[in-house]
Amino acid sequence: MWKRCGLISLIKVYLGEWPLIENLLSNGNNAEHKSVMKLVFVTGKGGVGKTTFASAQALNLASRGQKVLLVEFGPKSQLQYIFDISKLAKIKYKRLRVPASMEVVMWNFEEVLVEFITYYLKIKTLVKSFFSSPIMKKLIKVAPSLRELVYLGKATSAYRKIGKDMNYDTIIIDAYSTGHFLALMRSPVGMMKAVKKGPMNSQCKTILEVLKNPNLVDYYVVSLAEQLPIEETIEFVDVLKEEFKIQPKIIFNKVKEPLSKEADQSCIFQSYYNKSTINQDQQIKKLKKYNINLNIPFIYENKITKIVDEVQAQIGIK
Ligand SMILES: Nc1ncnc2c1ncn2[C@@H]1O[C@H](COP(=O)(O)OP(=O)(O)OP(=O)(O)O)[C@@H](O)[C@H]1O
Ligand SMILES: [Mg+2]
Repeated sequence: MWKRCGLISLIKVYLGEWPLIENLLSNGNNAEHKSVMKLVFVTGKGGVGKTTFASAQALNLASRGQKVLLVEFGPKSQLQYIFDISKLAKIKYKRLRVPASMEVVMWNFEEVLVEFITYYLKIKTLVKSFFSSPIMKKLIKVAPSLRELVYLGKATSAYRKIGKDMNYDTIIIDAYSTGHFLALMRSPVGMMKAVKKGPMNSQCKTILEVLKNPNLVDYYVVSLAEQLPIEETIEFVDVLKEEFKIQPKIIFNKVKEPLSKEADQSCIFQSYYNKSTINQDQQIKKLKKYNINLNIPFIYENKITKIVDEVQAQIGIK
């Protein structure tokens, strides 16, 4: 009986027909916001240093007295290695290296979904039944863009005054790589096309309103100063501007300093290294009409915690 009930419920949520959980992702028709809290998305090509930059920026703001929430999307955690967080602790992180004014969380899709449904349904047993059905579990996994919408709903929830209070100065999200990030941004647009009117449509509209508001949300694209990452960055930034009128800030990471003139030019490595620094300057110039925010140098360390500390120091200086 619960299985059938759950199945019908999910379909109704999609069609925006069930008043009790119609506001699954938002309950606001007007995006009223706290003016102070900033939401920051960090994206970029795979492996360029998104997690490193997001962590360093969070530490930097926390060290300046801000209350910061650093978020990663589950189910796999990268932040646990940076903050020495116990693998077993899951969402209740054991905060060993996290400053007092900062929190680190992993948002797990199913948990965030349960949180929203509990917020609206309020009856725990009903929520339990909703999720215990194997059919529901499968449907939730395959429902198009539901995961992305749930994450965006959560990220923008404080501005739309729903769910748990998020009392932070800044929320930094260590987000997906560029391709998947566009899918994340497009998820409310896709839902609005599929469901042309009703609450689901208007909720997606408010999510987009928040995302497009430069007073509330900052976007950082981390790139390497190399040809392929730069081409990908240009393409990504152009799409973001065209589709969403958003102008992200660009961070160049792992920028190499040229060697001193006295360096031995006959050494293969040194000569290669110097050529690559010249190439990197040429690559950076390709982006001069864009919003370049910061160059972070290559840090010659091999422990991630040390790299993050050093990047934090660099951000602090600039
Ligand atoms: N400025 C830097 N100098 C030297 N090494 C760096 C620097 N920034 C990041 N790294 C190293 O580069 C690697 C990739 O960094 P990171 O994990 O932050 O990238 P990512 O973009 O989050 O990757 P993914 O796409 O897998 O999530 C890590 O080993 C990290 O220690
Ligand atoms: Mg990462």
